[in-house]
Amino acid sequence: MYQSKITGVGHYLPEEVLTNNQLSEIMDTTDEWITERTGIKERRIYKENEDRVSTMGARAAYKALEMAGINKNEVDMIVFATLSPDYYFPGSGVLMQREMGINGIPAIDIRQQCSGFVYGISVADQYIKTGMCKKVLVVGSEIHTNAFEYTNRDRHVSVIFGDGAGCALLERAEEGEESAVLSTHIHSDGTHAEELAAKHPGSVSKIRCSNEMLEAGALLPNMNGQLVFKNAVQRFPEVIKEALEYNNLKPSDIDLLIPHQANLRISQFVQKLMRLGDDKIFNNIQKYGNTTAGSIPIALSEAVQEGKVKKGDLLCLAAFGSGFTWASTLVRW
Ligand code: ACO
Repeated sequence: MYQSKITGVGHYLPEEVLTNNQLSEIMDTTDEWITERTGIKERRIYKENEDRVSTMGARAAYKALEMAGINKNEVDMIVFATLSPDYYFPGSGVLMQREMGINGIPAIDIRQQCSGFVYGISVADQYIKTGMCKKVLVVGSEIHTNAFEYTNRDRHVSVIFGDGAGCALLERAEEGEESAVLSTHIHSDGTHAEELAAKHPGSVSKIRCSNEMLEAGALLPNMNGQLVFKNAVQRFPEVIKEALEYNNLKPSDIDLLIPHQANLRISQFVQKLMRLGDDKIFNNIQKYGNTTAGSIPIALSEAVQEGKVKKGDLLCLAAFGSGFTWASTLVRW
């Protein structure tokens, strides 16, 4: 069995900023309400006719390739995680592939929402371990801001989300090399599938989209915030501990925890429970909101850019999201 390692990371964020104060001018909310409950101050909004989930992914991928010093033609697989694909089908992986001009290699789409990126790392890691692939791009990219109305009926959800993309390049590690993806751990449980979901347009309804559905708000993402919070604060620590125990490590061995940026209050709860100092956890949800599959690779890329990750560091990436799904990976940088 081979080992994989992360050799490049990159991210792309649309320039336009949407602040809490701007939101309070268009809907019934306040900066205070949003900040107190989520920690979010602002988020980015995609530019119509310029940004697509696939093209944003490609921009992040080019940066990851540049950091690794790898030509795009050396990539032998794309794993693309998103819950906001360009089209209902085909998936955004092939669209990013076309955008980058690297046709012919497999492009797999991942549908595990906020856990999508860590699931993607797990898939890429398995392909590299078995020798099937040597260089795999794992992308998380999302456009959320056009899914909402920004009115009172979606204010408990819409204020949380933002747009952005991130990418990691996984490569086969040399034998005995310290840098490695140490392990990945993925889980799901469909019991509460509809409690955090966008059910329409879906094949569950005879008419996938109608004026009545639009009027009733049936196309808006739905979230039972308190149930999500309760499950997230249970699953995050559980899956982090699972990864540590698997590698005979303890919480104090973690140099940097990069949790999915769901909600700053969730991250703080996990940090406290794991007894991690402020310098051992990376949060940027304050600036970008929750970018679901994009959040971990954006945060990882930003942490690297800010010099917060050194060679030999132990990184823990952990996620929880719709499904419910949850996942973790330990990475020796
Ligand atoms: N601005 C002002 N008031 C609001 C807003 C808003 N944006 N949204 C809801 N309210 C109001 C509600 O109408 C309600 O008013 P009422 O008491 O008069 O009925 C009141 O605020 C409280 O509403 P709740 O929904 O009970 O608010 P809660 O305290 O549970 O906070 C929140 C909501 C922030 C979503 C919280 O449940 C939470 O943090 N949940 C975790 C979910 C999460 O973080 N999801 C992230 C995405 S999923 C993921 O990534 C895993």
